[in-house]
Amino acid sequence: MRILFIGDVMGRSGRAALTRFVPRLREKWALDFIVVNGENAAGGFGVTEAICDEMLGLGVDCVTLGNHAFDQREALVFIERQPRLLRPINYPPGTPGRGANLFKAARGQQVLVVNPMGRVFMDALDDPFAAIERELGACPLGVGCDAILIDMHAETSSEKMAMGHFVDGRASLVVGTHTHTPTADAQIFPGGTAYQTDAGMTGDYDSIIGMEKEEPLRRFLRKTPGARYEPASGEATLCGVAAEIGADGLAAMIAPVRLGGRLRQEWPAEWGEP
Ligand SMILES: [Fe+2]
Ligand SMILES: [Fe+2]
Repeated sequence: MRILFIGDVMGRSGRAALTRFVPRLREKWALDFIVVNGENAAGGFGVTEAICDEMLGLGVDCVTLGNHAFDQREALVFIERQPRLLRPINYPPGTPGRGANLFKAARGQQVLVVNPMGRVFMDALDDPFAAIERELGACPLGVGCDAILIDMHAETSSEKMAMGHFVDGRASLVVGTHTHTPTADAQIFPGGTAYQTDAGMTGDYDSIIGMEKEEPLRRFLRKTPGARYEPASGEATLCGVAAEIGADGLAAMIAPVRLGGRLRQEWPAEWGEP
């Protein structure tokens, strides 16, 4: 089973990269399932229903979120009627929407996607490890589903790596999001779980984590508020990982994907030129 996981889509330029690449890659690489982190898709802050529908319309199977999940207030409402949109699973009980769902992939495979959020240097939340333990218990790999994909939205590499090892052999793929910077540690853990600490963002890398440089830089130099943050508008690099999942639900291959924009281009050689 061929999976493409795409990191935080940053505003208009990130969405343009999705439009350019997703339909093409879906066909060229015969992808079975595509996950996109959409927490920054609407001007850098959250996601609207129109933008969520636009991403799903391109052939994305599941949109995950993070700390920006509800920056667009309408998400509190439409998330209830959009089963393909997930928010962090360890939000307190009563939060609208869901943090996990079971999907049908291109050839009928059952894919569980879970979206936990870390707690180190982030808002206080319920325990993401306990939440994952519950989900894996309710839908074990190879019994309840054919693949398990986890978007671990967290600030620190240690917390993401800990999650990867926590589920090693019990999940197909763990990819970190949130830092907007791709890491170079794609690997298959000893138990068979594919892992990369951060997917990177799908946005303009001539920026400060996707935002126009001037205002974030100004806030580092002078501790007073100024203008609003605006997403950078140059050509985005689509960033994420490609993974091949075997019949046992464990990973056979993981490779970084970086297409378009300023970053050095990367894709799985096994799958051919995009
Ligand atoms: Fe983000
Ligand atoms: Fe985030």
